[in-house]
Amino acid sequence: MLGTSPQRPSRAAVLCGVGGQLPWLKVGNDELADQLDTDDAWIRTRTGIRARHFAAPDEATSDLAVAAGRRALANSGSATVGAVIVATTTPDRTCPATAPLVAARLGLTGVAAFDVGAVCSGFVYALAAGAGLITSRVTDRVLVVGADLYTRIVDPGDRQNAVVFGDGAGAVVLRTGHDTEPGALGFFDLGSDGVHEDMITVPAGGSRLPVDPARTSHAEKHFTMRGKEVYRHAVRRMAGSARAVLEQAGLSIGEIDLFVPHQANLRILRTVATDLGLPFERCATHVQEMGNTGAASIPLALARSHVDGASGVGDRILLTGFGGGLTWGSCLLTWPSLPPAVEPSRPEEEAAP
Ligand code: UT7
Repeated sequence: MLGTSPQRPSRAAVLCGVGGQLPWLKVGNDELADQLDTDDAWIRTRTGIRARHFAAPDEATSDLAVAAGRRALANSGSATVGAVIVATTTPDRTCPATAPLVAARLGLTGVAAFDVGAVCSGFVYALAAGAGLITSRVTDRVLVVGADLYTRIVDPGDRQNAVVFGDGAGAVVLRTGHDTEPGALGFFDLGSDGVHEDMITVPAGGSRLPVDPARTSHAEKHFTMRGKEVYRHAVRRMAGSARAVLEQAGLSIGEIDLFVPHQANLRILRTVATDLGLPFERCATHVQEMGNTGAASIPLALARSHVDGASGVGDRILLTGFGGGLTWGSCLLTWPSLPPAVEPSRPEEEAAP
C-alpha cells in the first residue's frame, strides 16, 4: 500500500518487469587518466565513479534500448505491450523519434510509440506518461525505456564531463492493476525551471542554432554543463521533489525502504540523503560502476537493485530524477514479486523472448 489512508482499490499502473543493458566496454578511471589531464583520485573524490561503460562506434541508443526492453519484457512474462515510450537525450536521429524503431525491432509494429525529452529526469516523466496511458485506458501494458549514449554528445577531450558520463539503457514494463497491490505506481511530482536552460545544454544542432560547418565551433556542438551550479540545483530540487511526493502520500522518509535517485554523483546522493534524513544504506548507489547514464540511470539502478535482491515484495520505493531543462521528478511505488532479472552488464543474448 503506497499511502497511509485506506481507500477502495482503484485502477493503477503496476510494475511487472525490469531489465537493463550496459555496453560491453567498461572503462576505468586509469584508462581515462591516460588520455585526459585527470586522475583516479580526483574522479573518485569528486564523483565516486570508478568506471563507466562506453558504446561501440557502431552502436546506437536504439540498440541498447531494444536490448533493455527485451529483457524487461522477458522479465514481465509477456512480449506484448500497447505502447512504447523511450526517454532519451541522444535519439538515433533528430527525426524520427527512437521509440517507433525500438517498438518495431521488438516485434511491436502498430503500437503507440513516442520519445520523451526531459534529459536526466526523462525516465520519471516517461513513467508518468506510461502510467497515464494505463489509467486513462489507452492501453493495458506499456514498455518504458530510459536510454542514453552520452559518449555521442560529450567531447571526449572535456575532462569535466568525459569522466562523469557513461552509456546504457534500462526499461520497465507497466500493466493494469490496482493501487493496493505490490508494484503499484502512486504519487508523482514533476517540475521544471527553463530559466536555467543553458546550465546543461548542447548549444548547436537544433532549430535555434543549426550546425553550420563553416561557423559552428567545436564547443557548440558538444554537451556543456555548469557543474557547480548544477550540483547545487540537483541537491535542492531532488530533495524538494522527494518531499513533495512523500507529502502527497502522507508518508515520512522513515517509511521509505529504498530511495532510487538519478545517479549523477555519489556526493550529490549523500547530500540529498542527509538532507532528507534517510540512512544512506537505503539509497541505491550504482554510479560507481556505471557513471551518469542520463535517462537510463534510474531504470538501470532498478534492474541492478533487483538483481541484488535489494527490495522485498511490498517495500516502498521512491524514485527521484533531476536533469537539464532544468527538470526534476519523483514517483512512489511498491516493489512487486518479479522473476530473477539478467544483470545489465551481461552481454545481450541472441534469443528474443
Ligand atoms: O545528470 C544531470 C545532473 N548532473 C549533475 O547533477 C552533475 C552535478 N555536478 C557535478 O557532479 C560536479 O560539479 C562535477 C563532477 C561535474 C565537477 O565536480 P566539482 O567538484 O564541482 O569540480 P569543479 O567543476 O568545481 O572543478 C574543481 C577543479 C577545477 O580546477 P580549478 O579551477 O580549481 O583549478 C577544475 O578545472 O577541478 C578541475 N577539474 C578536474 N581536475 C581533474 C574538473 N574536472 C576535472 C577532472 N580531473 N576530470
